[in-house]
Amino acid sequence: MKHLIILAHPNPASFSSSLIKALHDHLLAEAHEVKIRNLYEIGFNPVLSADDFSSLADNKTPKDIEIEQEYIKWADHIIFAYPVWWGSMPAILKGYIDRVLSEGFAYEYLADGPKGLLSPRKGSTICSTGAYSEEYGKVQEAMKLISGEVIFDFTGIKPYKQLFYGGVPSVGDEVRKSYIQNAIKEFSE
Ligand SMILES: Cc1cc2nc3c(=O)[nH]c(=O)nc-3n(C[C@H](O)[C@H](O)[C@H](O)COP(=O)(O)O)c2cc1C
Repeated sequence: MKHLIILAHPNPASFSSSLIKALHDHLLAEAHEVKIRNLYEIGFNPVLSADDFSSLADNKTPKDIEIEQEYIKWADHIIFAYPVWWGSMPAILKGYIDRVLSEGFAYEYLADGPKGLLSPRKGSTICSTGAYSEEYGKVQEAMKLISGEVIFDFTGIKPYKQLFYGGVPSVGDEVRKSYIQNAIKEFSE
């Protein structure tokens, strides 16, 4: 399977970055294909601009968007990996979704309503939080709704795993390591 991991963390020493490195290595060892787009490392511009709207209206996709869309076309499975910031995804990832999952590429409007164009791909999220998961159920459910329905279902992507790892700054190394092992297990066949 071809996995595309969209990582939104500015710190290579973070838990999220470590988890993605371990997951990447594991999937490769299991003979999967894996590509990582580290949005901070590539300096992705997250602002959907007036120029973007006019280019897209003229059927000219801005080069940086086109590059990311080629990665999505390549993938069978798209994983968004990020720390939860203010109950949501970091702005750079929201901007990636605004710009890359554009009308005509990820969805279109038909007479009977919108239609997703990215099936049969699968989509997953891996989120770390400062809050412990036991205290964060309502927020996690809200985030699952946004990722699962508003983003994945809308674009024809089949929601797959939505993983949350809680209390990350508090739990200590052993628990953080067990979280990473859990993520690897979740994505093992
Ligand atoms: C700007 C910012 C906003 C944050 N907002 C939240 C939040 O809304 N809920 C929460 O549980 N943790 C929040 N946190 C804590 C992070 O989610 C936590 O530190 C992170 O998941 C730890 O994993 P990491 O090492 O991959 O960054 C926030 C942290 C930052 C820097």
